[in-house]
Amino acid sequence: MRFDLLIMIRLMMLLGLIKGAASGLDKVGGKHGWDQNVNYTDWASHQHFYLGDWLYFVFDKHYYNVLEVNQTNYEQCIDRDFISNITRGGRDVFHLTQARPYYFISSGGYCFHGMKLAINVEQPLPASPVPSSSDKTNASPPQIVKHLTTPVFAISSTLVWTFLFAQATLS
Ligand SMILES: *[C@@H]1O[C@H](CO)[C@@H](O)[C@H](O)[C@H]1NC(C)=O
Ligand SMILES: *[C@@H]1O[C@H](CO)[C@@H](O)[C@H](O)[C@H]1NC(C)=O
Ligand SMILES: *[C@@H]1O[C@H](CO)[C@@H](O)[C@H](O)[C@H]1NC(C)=O
Repeated sequence: MRFDLLIMIRLMMLLGLIKGAASGLDKVGGKHGWDQNVNYTDWASHQHFYLGDWLYFVFDKHYYNVLEVNQTNYEQCIDRDFISNITRGGRDVFHLTQARPYYFISSGGYCFHGMKLAINVEQPLPASPVPSSSDKTNASPPQIVKHLTTPVFAISSTLVWTFLFAQATLS
């Protein structure tokens, strides 16, 4: 199921249908993945994370996991009282649905070996400049966007599932 979701995300990115032209799916740690002795502070300082992006954690599930924690517990490597457990099969995605800082650690002491990540999720820059008009009654673009996005999403999902079905039938 998780794998199908990932294929779907990738296909949708290929089709250019996932919002956030910047990237969409960020593989944590780049080629290192989610592992010991990687400096994720350094890695994250070279990335931009936008609202709606997905983090992609690739790791050995026999040793490591991914927990979302708060700032205090990130700083002190405390794996109790975590916010959520993202761990599934070791190729796991996490949707960044809010423009705020997020903190992740691996429990089992591996946080002390560098497996801790702090990121700040930014609001994507608007595609077109905001009109300088003082007409505030005209402030309903989100609704328009919603109405446009829903059919696009429906169509893209249909395309993706058709593609997956075709793949399954051919193999
Ligand atoms: C990780 O990289 C950051 C920024 O480059 C640096 O300030 C920090 O000291 C490094 N941490 C370790 C444990 O090497
Ligand atoms: C993080 O969670 C711990 C345990 O629930 C709590 O003691 C601490 O105050 C929290 N820190 C922040 C910054 O929310
Ligand atoms: C996180 O979830 C995984 C898979 O569902 C589970 O095996 C693991 O025990 C959980 N870890 C914690 C710390 O709850």
